[in-house]
Amino acid sequence: MFDIVDLHNHSLYGLDDGADSYEKMCQMIDCSYRNGVRHICFTPHYHNIGNRDCTPEKIGAVYNEARRYCAEHYPDLRLSVGSEMVYHFDCIDAIAEKRVLTLSESRYVLTDFLATPDARGIMMGVERLLGCGYFPVVAHVERYDCLLGKVDEVRRLSDAGAVIQINAGSLNGGIFSKKRKFCMKLLEEELVDVVASDAHNTDSRSPSLDFALKTVVSKFGEEYAERIFRLIPEKIISNQIM
Ligand SMILES: [Fe+2]
Repeated sequence: MFDIVDLHNHSLYGLDDGADSYEKMCQMIDCSYRNGVRHICFTPHYHNIGNRDCTPEKIGAVYNEARRYCAEHYPDLRLSVGSEMVYHFDCIDAIAEKRVLTLSESRYVLTDFLATPDARGIMMGVERLLGCGYFPVVAHVERYDCLLGKVDEVRRLSDAGAVIQINAGSLNGGIFSKKRKFCMKLLEEELVDVVASDAHNTDSRSPSLDFALKTVVSKFGEEYAERIFRLIPEKIISNQIM
């Protein structure tokens, strides 16, 4: 159909709760490629507390191993790296000091707001990042209780300048899944900018975006699907302003 860009992915091993060995990392990459992904941006978690072992140096070393593996097996698979940053008070300094990696060295920052208690706090975080010259990509917007089901709150974030990302796996839920229903509503309103895998392993949180892609194509058309599985992620990785 078209090449997929996966902007949120925990395949780099030994850095967070994603792949835990070189072999698992390679299996996850195999799965991405088999399912049509032709650019992976690896995004290990950055927490300001805990996970202090996930330094840029360690990320760089594992990233180089992934690059060597892909050069040998998948020469047309492009790779880049960033962080998934838990939003916290000190985050602007962490970005400036390169403890947090922006997505492919762009001005876009994949930002997790799970530690932020309410929608107002998320909006303040988005505005703060924008005010400092960074573009927040709100990671898995459907996972925050304070936003779940609230389309208008997501629209406010989008209107303010946030990039809205949902997880492919959230579209796999049954018809009674609140997350699936919310994601479908956001897609219907064209409020989703990016669908990504947020892959952590090869089974329960796999790198495959295939089911989500088919769902979006069948319900909302190929043009919108290409925009959110390829075009907007490509713009982010190449640091284009939207
Ligand atoms: Fe993630």
